Order: sequence, then C-alpha cells, then structure tokens
Amino acid sequence: MSITRRDLLRVLGGGAVAGAAAPFSFAQPAFVPDVELALSAAAGEARILPGAATRVWQFTGKVLKGPADSLQAIPDSYLGPTLRLRKGQKVRIRFRNELPEPSIVHWHGMDMPSAMDGHPHSVIDPKIEFVYEFEVTNRAGTYWYHPHPHNRTGAQVYQGLAGLLLVTDDEEAALKLPNGDDEIRCVLQDRRFDAGNQLIYLSGGMMGMMDQAHGFLGDRVLVNGRERPALSLATRAYRLRLLNGSNARIYKLAWSDDTPMTMIASDGGLLERPVQQKSITLAPAQRADVILDLSGRTVGTTLELRSAPFPAAAVDAMGMMGMGMGRGRGRGMGGMRSMLESAVPNGAELSLLSVRVVRREASSFRTPARLSSFDRSWIREADVPTRRVTLGFEQGQWFLDGRTFDMLSTTPEETIAAGSTQIWEIVNGGGMMGMQAAHPIHLHGRQFRVMSREGGSAAGRPVSEGLVNAGWLDTVLVMPDETVRIKIPFTHHRGLYLYHCHILEHEDMGIMRNFRVV
Ligand code: C2O
Ligand code: CU
Repeated sequence: MSITRRDLLRVLGGGAVAGAAAPFSFAQPAFVPDVELALSAAAGEARILPGAATRVWQFTGKVLKGPADSLQAIPDSYLGPTLRLRKGQKVRIRFRNELPEPSIVHWHGMDMPSAMDGHPHSVIDPKIEFVYEFEVTNRAGTYWYHPHPHNRTGAQVYQGLAGLLLVTDDEEAALKLPNGDDEIRCVLQDRRFDAGNQLIYLSGGMMGMMDQAHGFLGDRVLVNGRERPALSLATRAYRLRLLNGSNARIYKLAWSDDTPMTMIASDGGLLERPVQQKSITLAPAQRADVILDLSGRTVGTTLELRSAPFPAAAVDAMGMMGMGMGRGRGRGMGGMRSMLESAVPNGAELSLLSVRVVRREASSFRTPARLSSFDRSWIREADVPTRRVTLGFEQGQWFLDGRTFDMLSTTPEETIAAGSTQIWEIVNGGGMMGMQAAHPIHLHGRQFRVMSREGGSAAGRPVSEGLVNAGWLDTVLVMPDETVRIKIPFTHHRGLYLYHCHILEHEDMGIMRNFRVV
C-alpha cells in the first residue's frame, strides 16, 4: 500500500496546512524515474564485537531501475547501502517500514520538496510503504539518510538506521578525484554494549536524564560498524568521505603523524580550494571529504586517523543540574558529574582507524589547487533580513528560539518567502544555572554559508580551531557563548521544513522547530 497525496493531507489534518494541496510536488502523474530503488528498514543482526551477534535495525535496498551501482553496500556493516546518484537524475524510492514502530526517512542535506523531506509528520506505520519522488538538484557531495520520527530519531539511528547518499556531477567528475577503490567511506558512530554484545541506549532515572541533557555518548567508536578497521593501502592518493553519524559525539580528526588534514569538500560539496588544517572538528551530522596522499611514503609506513584530545568542557560547559557552576568557563565540574558521565567523554583521545602502506604504485594524482568556483561577494552582502535564533536551557529542557518542537506550527519569524535569502544569527547564550553546550544546528532543505563567528569561550578554543567554515554547510556547530551568522538562500519549494540541533537526544527533547516556506 502506498501513501497517496490524499492520505498525507489527511495526516496533516486537512486545513492545518493552508493551501497544502497545490505546492506538494509528489505523486506527480508524469514522473518518469531514471532510478528507482526499494529501501526497507527492518530488524536484523550484525557481527560487531567478537562473540554474540548484535541485534540492530538496518536499511536494505534493491535497484529496481537504473544503473546497478545506484546502491552499493558497505561490506560487513549494519549501515544501509550507499545511494550513488547523479545531479539531474529523477529518483523514485519505495521505502517500506518493516520496523515494529512508525518511521520515515530524511535525506540529510538534500534539496527536497517539503513532502519528500521525511518530516516527522509524514511517518508511516509498520508494513506501510512511502513513495519518494524527487530530482537530484544538489551539487556533488557526501550526503546521508536516516530516520526522522519525532522522539525516536535518536533511538532509531542508534540501532543502526543510517546510510550515505553520494551525489556526483560534471564539475566534480572533471577533477578526476580518487574513486572506485581509492574512495574510502568512513561513517563514525560511537556505541555502548552490554556484556552480551547488545546495544545500550538511554536508561531510565538520573543517569538517563544526564545522558539526554548532554547527548548520548558511547564508549566504543565504530567506523562503518567495525571497531578500528585496518586499511592496507598503496602509495597513491585516496579520498576519504567522512561522516560523523554519531548521536552526540564531536570528533577532532587528525592524522597521528601530524600530516595535515587536506579537506576538499564539506557538507554541501566541494570547497573553492583545498583547506589544510592540523585537525578538522566534525560535529554530529557533518561531513568532510579529505585527501590522503600516500605517494611519498615508504612501504611499511603506518598511521592512524585519530580524534585528538580536547577538554570535555570545551563543548559541554554545563554546571551540575541546578547548581549553576562554571558557566561558559568549563570550571566547577564536580566529582558527581564525572561519575554520571560516559567512561569515554567528549574530547577523549580516540584511535578511529589505522592505515598501513603495503605496496608501491605509481600515482599521478595531485590535489587540484582550485576545486570549484564560488561567488565571493555574495557571502559579504548583508542587506537581507536578519533573524536572531537563541539556544538556551531552563528547568531541565533545551529551547530553540525560546520554544520547543510543535509538529505543524510556525511563528511569523519562521514563515519565509520561497526563494528569499536571510541571515540567521544563532546565539548560544546559555540558560540559567550555567547550562550550556555546543550545538550542531542543522537546517533542512538547503545549504548555507557561514558569514561570521563571534564570542566563544576560551575553554572552547581547542575545538574551535578545527572548525572549517569554508564551503556550503547544512549543519553548523555553535560553540558555548558564541554567535554564528549564517546566510541561507531558501528553497523555492513551499511547505514545512525543520531546523534543529543534531545532537539526536537534544532533537528528540525538542530543540527543533519548523519553518514554513510560503
Ligand atoms: Cu540529519 Cu533533521 O536531520
Ligand atoms: Cu543541542
């Protein structure tokens, strides 16, 4: 059974969305897909740790029409198949929910008609199919997909529901970047396991409350569902596509031998030119494409991709609940707080994967000095409406713009003219009692640019120094005490879209709001 436009309108409550019938561009009678995929979410098992298999939830898929490599599995992983799409393709995806609870898929970073975006209002019940139809209009880049049912996104992603969505286009193809076996997908996710190898998520009580307020951290980091994989590589250049698919952990990515990280693309695709940094801060949901050029190395060389250490207080300047200690300074964390924290706090030094150079191979690839062209003046022009969006915490609850999530409502400030441009000034001023944290703020439907960052506590510097603000982003990390201005060219598609914190426990707690494009 498929969800029809009429069904969706019924779910939306008829008149609740004025004029909803006209703008929705799905179930188009003349839609002829270039690619048609079947995707389902169901319970399964994965071998993650030695010993017993782990019960997970996972996406599986099948190509019904179009290039056979439109789907590419990640071997031995609970992750969903990688969708490989090309700009301009018309895509139909038949998503079937085989989970024991409602779900819906969101295509993170993709420019989608509202009804195709996987908004929580369009969740489908078990055994129901939702048919997505859209045209790929994004630039080439590393995007991803995951469920988005309200209150359950954190739990469903944590159980294993996530996959990459890679877009190519002519501009990228012309650069002849490393591809095929020279392209390495790396999805970083931390997890906790019990003695029987089963996943542990939020528990009840004080511990669960703290995990929710801070965001849930695992004590083992998995790369594509494996712990610390070892890659055997040649003396050539590789393209790593890195996704932080963790619920709450922030990584400060660096090579163990101090080779600089050479970043060529961020959330929304290619940067104008490569950026070299000692480290790259990757917040939940963010992506970085990095070139690892091993052409000068001798066979036998080893190195590791690590998350470099930083003080947890850099991203989590929360005093003890209600005690109001250490606001913005990262001081005054009592012993009780660390007792309640994960054994591996944010900022713990982590070894993510190891690389061994095992053979000589000639390689002529040089990272191009210029990757894409950007309109540099656009980012500086400030004569567009500016909206202030605040982040805060009060009485055990995070707030976005002073509010929490409501399924269909929007305020006048959250009503935006189709195709217009706005600057959003996101203010992480903290709340009462010193509750403050770094929040990765994500907007659905469009990529934006970072105009400026102001403020930020001294404690946050070890994390801030790895931030990459170049290029197009759909998720921006807003540090404690910081004000980040982003410039957003809004979509022409009308309807509801979300903006929220991508710490999934924060999102599920309601640091999420709609904006309505009219
Ligand atoms: Cu990646 Cu609203 O989500
Ligand atoms: Cu948050």
